[in-house]
Amino acid sequence: MTQNKVVAYFKKHYGNDPYIIKSPGRVNIIGEHTDYNLGYVLPACIEKSIYFTIQKNNSQYLQIEAFLSEPEKITLPIDGADGNFESFWGKYFEAILQILVKKNYPIQGMDCVFGGDIPIGFGLSSSAALCCGFTYAASAALDLKIPREEIALIAQAAEHKIGLNCGLMDQYAVLFGKKSNALFLDCKDLSHSYTPINLNGYSWILINSNIKHQLAVDSEYNLRRRSCEKVVQKLKESHEEITSLRGVSMEDLKEIKNHVSKTDFRRAGHVIQENKRVLKMIEALKEGDAAQVGSILLAGHRSLSTEYEVSTKELDFLVEIGQKQEGVLGSRMMGGGFGGCTINLIKDEFEESAVKGIIDAYKAETGIDAIYNHLEIGNSVQLLSS
Ligand code: GLA
Repeated sequence: MTQNKVVAYFKKHYGNDPYIIKSPGRVNIIGEHTDYNLGYVLPACIEKSIYFTIQKNNSQYLQIEAFLSEPEKITLPIDGADGNFESFWGKYFEAILQILVKKNYPIQGMDCVFGGDIPIGFGLSSSAALCCGFTYAASAALDLKIPREEIALIAQAAEHKIGLNCGLMDQYAVLFGKKSNALFLDCKDLSHSYTPINLNGYSWILINSNIKHQLAVDSEYNLRRRSCEKVVQKLKESHEEITSLRGVSMEDLKEIKNHVSKTDFRRAGHVIQENKRVLKMIEALKEGDAAQVGSILLAGHRSLSTEYEVSTKELDFLVEIGQKQEGVLGSRMMGGGFGGCTINLIKDEFEESAVKGIIDAYKAETGIDAIYNHLEIGNSVQLLSS
């Protein structure tokens, strides 16, 4: 529907032969706040996506129209300088243009219309879908042949410019995800492989707390990263070879317990344990051990809530109330935190009753309507036609 609307609008206003690109959002099975610590993550692409239509326009300007909650249009010079716009999303395009120009890509004027169905600010990485999708789209329209690995770095650099010091999980998920699979990514060397996540007789369900976050302007995310860096600095004083939390053991960490703050110590502990949970999760999925998958999800949530402190009372409530429903094996908050969704593993025959139980209890407790979705794992960014 959205795709048709975006394409029809482009054809009516800009011309008949746009490149059409689908750029998905992502979920994460486990491995939270490990990416920028060069650890392991296990994300996947979702079917919900942003659709871009794009074509060269023989001008010195990028004209972009968005079908978001409000239709909006902005125009930017192709070097990304001095854009005049109010929308927050404009900053991403501006940043990407500036990065492409700095990297000496020959940028030309383009018309671009985009829109989609990834809810913004709910931990499904709409911004990675936007940045990776637009860079991929510009590369197609201008025949720049930018490799996917490079697109990931450009999209990450755009987030950093705007203020979120994120890792590479979201970008790699969007660019390398594969239908029915999770992407096992080692953020140290960016090697990756695929793990099927379908468990016979069980479904993955997303429950959106309907509490929005805006990580890019919420320095809490960057403060978590800073905590980890402080611990690494301290460890380095006695272990020169340590350059990240990757490979650091709990024993190593305990050596410096009295030389870092309690908060930083707990946060680093989360990262070390979370890497182990990713490896355990892959084993549990391979063995089809749903009970074990559920208990890893719950352990992950507890750690994000009490050790890393990125949950909210609403997300904690969704997880806690899930535990009281028959058929829910486990749940956890997903993504950067401070709002967004939980991901839940539920036995098929209890799906309807369990989801209803959670949503009703959530409404009674918070007054907020939670929204639920059956998780559909899709493919990475792709060119639909040109
Ligand atoms: C956000 C960031 C990612 C990652 C997650 C937490 O989605 O963009 O890089 O750090 O939070 O796992």
